[in-house]
Amino acid sequence: MNIAAGAVVNSRNGAKTGRMKQLWVFLAGLMVVTPAAAGLPWGPDPSVTTAYAQARAIADLGRKLFFDPALSASGRMSCARCHDPAHGFSAPNALPVQPGGPDLRRPGVRAVPGLMYGAFVPGFSEHFFESDDDGNGSIDQGPTGGRDWDGRVDRARDQAALPLLDPNEMANVSPDAVVAAVKKAAYAGDVRRLYGPGVFADPARAFAAVTEALEFYQQSPATFSPFSSKYDAFLRGQASLTEQEGRGLATFNDPARGNCAQCHKSAASGNGQPPLFTDFGYVALGVPRNREIPANGDPAYFDLGLCGPLRHDLAGEAQYCGMFKAPTLRNVALKQSFYHNGVFHSLRDAVAFYAERDTDPGKWYPAGKFDDLPREYAENVSMEMPFGSKQVLSDADVDDLVAFLRTLTDGYR
Ligand code: HEC
Ligand code: HEC
Repeated sequence: MNIAAGAVVNSRNGAKTGRMKQLWVFLAGLMVVTPAAAGLPWGPDPSVTTAYAQARAIADLGRKLFFDPALSASGRMSCARCHDPAHGFSAPNALPVQPGGPDLRRPGVRAVPGLMYGAFVPGFSEHFFESDDDGNGSIDQGPTGGRDWDGRVDRARDQAALPLLDPNEMANVSPDAVVAAVKKAAYAGDVRRLYGPGVFADPARAFAAVTEALEFYQQSPATFSPFSSKYDAFLRGQASLTEQEGRGLATFNDPARGNCAQCHKSAASGNGQPPLFTDFGYVALGVPRNREIPANGDPAYFDLGLCGPLRHDLAGEAQYCGMFKAPTLRNVALKQSFYHNGVFHSLRDAVAFYAERDTDPGKWYPAGKFDDLPREYAENVSMEMPFGSKQVLSDADVDDLVAFLRTLTDGYR
């Protein structure tokens, strides 16, 4: 056994969860809140057809909630205002952080991640042992999984409560305020039909219904995990890559060059699930400080990811400071701000940063290298390929990688 406590071992081995797990979570959710199971620790198993129809109806309610600006103190901020379906459910604009709050003027502190393929993220674990793919379950992959850039919540339903109540985002004063808005909405009847006629009498249960429905919506495969990119068609033998895209893929996969696939998995897993372009692992890349984020006007403020300040349970774990979750690269070409702090606004810059961070640091850090980390954490920053003092990716390689990343956008015909 190679258990290097706290050390981050770099041979990450692919995602764990699959569609079966997704369905299971779906059905387990039904058992918890629906009236059919109320009063029973375990209701009778619903027939599969009934369960699917119920799940679809809940997902449909979740869609209405997701697009409803009335669920905010301003009356103007829906989930979709920050998570735009036209951009893979990431931000609709190139702002590094989105304004929110009661007056829509309070800036956030992090860039908006896309929400696609989120249903596959495993729960957070500090020591992740992979065993599905290569039969080698003895290597500690280090911190893995969870939602948000720092993995501080596991389930989408718990995650949904954060923006609803965050004073910088939808800014509802309480769960009851959310429930009151839902009760007045055109779809309040759907909530009663799906969760029972008396659901609004118990605001805690009604709020749980709201967040559950938002979770179900985000698990809808047709919208959130269609696997319909050019690259998926290529993997199925239904499309071919251009020469440049093919070169980009080769560079992406080559451990001695891009080495991208080490963290952004590009091959189907052992159980045949298409690749998710992330291993859900945590790495410090040392991306430059984004001075456009108002919180960064305070020189003492640092967003350190796993070790805080938004996440609390790993505060003081110095070896994790500066680490953020590797995002999926599916639909990355639809984004307009990259990395946890949105510091880059073009995909080419986001990729060129890997090529030149260590060989041309002056270009990326006018104020000194790793300027978004207190000095004592600089040693946490990854020196994996393609980083290091020898430049392995040329300008042409960067262009090829970008061309390849553009094949990961869903909706290819
Ligand atoms: C004001 C903009 C804003 C609004 C409104 C908003 N979000 Fe987000 N969302 C963010 C930001 C920023 C993050 C990253 C937060 C972090 O890492 O701490 C995020 C993260 C997430 C994540 C985690 C994604 C991942 O990569 O793990 C999910 C899921 C999510 N939001 C769903 C929702 C839902 C559902 C709603 C509506 C109830 C919503 N968001 C409303 C800005 C927003
Ligand atoms: C050692 C693991 C690792 C390797 C190797 C790696 N990445 Fe990443 N990648 C990450 C992490 C972690 C982040 C998020 C870091 C952050 O926001 O601070 C990230 C973020 C990105 C982003 C921004 C995505 C977004 O939604 O904002 C792009 C683009 C990207 N990587 C492309 C690549 C390419 C291309 C390569 C190969 C040249 C590569 N990565 C190699 C771990 C890795």
